[in-house]
Amino acid sequence: MNEAAKLVRRSVIKGSGSALPARIMTNADMSKVVDTSDEWIVERTGIKARHIANDSETTRTLGTEAARRALKHAGLGADAVDLIIVATSTPDQTFPATATLVQADLGITRGAAFDVQAVCSGFVYGLSVADAMIKSGQAQCVLVIGSETFSRILDWTDRTTCVLFGDGAGAVVLQAEMVPDSPASPGIMVTRIRSDGRYHDKLYVDGGPSTTKTVGHLRMEGREVFKHAVVNIASVMDEAMAEARITAADVDWFVPHQANRRILEGTARKLGIREDRIVMTLDRHGNTSAASIPLAFDAAIQDGRIHKGDLVLFEAMGGGFTWGAVLARY
Ligand code: UT7
Repeated sequence: MNEAAKLVRRSVIKGSGSALPARIMTNADMSKVVDTSDEWIVERTGIKARHIANDSETTRTLGTEAARRALKHAGLGADAVDLIIVATSTPDQTFPATATLVQADLGITRGAAFDVQAVCSGFVYGLSVADAMIKSGQAQCVLVIGSETFSRILDWTDRTTCVLFGDGAGAVVLQAEMVPDSPASPGIMVTRIRSDGRYHDKLYVDGGPSTTKTVGHLRMEGREVFKHAVVNIASVMDEAMAEARITAADVDWFVPHQANRRILEGTARKLGIREDRIVMTLDRHGNTSAASIPLAFDAAIQDGRIHKGDLVLFEAMGGGFTWGAVLARY
């Protein structure tokens, strides 16, 4: 048998899109709300501004807008989609899943739609589930959306958390394709997801339907999360690259979850990643949790940095703790 002719079923990224609320809140605006300064926020995090949703902008509306743009970019109609996964920790309602609301907005009545809840790692989890559904033949065309309105769950009197987060949504369209079994072929090559629930109380929301019957507010032991972030992210990226038999030098673009510039720089140092290979949108978006990776990915496609054929490594770490990495050729 001719090995070169062997074809494999891969999840290929056909399009991407994003949506941001109209209102921009700068660090100067933030310093009118809590006792903070532009200098502290920029030095400790790298964030300069974030978008904040108004009352009519929700996880559903932002997610739907990002999905529409991703479908347009892919040149596909909504009728092609047979699975919608929304990664979010800030759903419009406790139930039904925001994915079903997006499905209705897009006029899709077939296939399935569900939410994935892995906080800041949600988009990486969503890609991993979507890839498994495509590889097993259960889905042909999947919308993976990260959409968040964290501004709704922030304690606006707590300067240690409210300065960090923002709202927004990003989406990709994955489609099943038979491609030559080669690292040069497009599609998702490796997905790795992890969690360690012993740390569930380091980054959490202090409310929920089954306990307080309220939505609650975000709470975080920032230093504790920081300590684990670099170690966990570096180890899962190492695993993903080892499985694909590549090194950091082979990766064209690192598209990380955007939590803190110092975490990204620390990870880059640990793995020998060149800083000009890291897509960073943290300065203008802040931390948008599950939306941050697809927002950054879309920004780098739109500004012409990421091209078809580039090898891209996505990674994230968040509440749970959860973390993960996805290696894909665009
Ligand atoms: O997306 C999910 C994953 N999340 C993360 O990865 C976040 C990880 N953690 C972090 O990014 C950082 O820990 C933070 C940015 C949250 C905090 O930075 P830090 O360097 O760890 O600061 P710290 O919490 O140790 O606080 C240092 C000082 C404290 O003052 P004292 O006790 O030294 O007098 C804080 O009260 O900075 C003070 N501080 C602030 N000052 C001005 C904390 N927040 C602020 C603020 N403005 N907004």
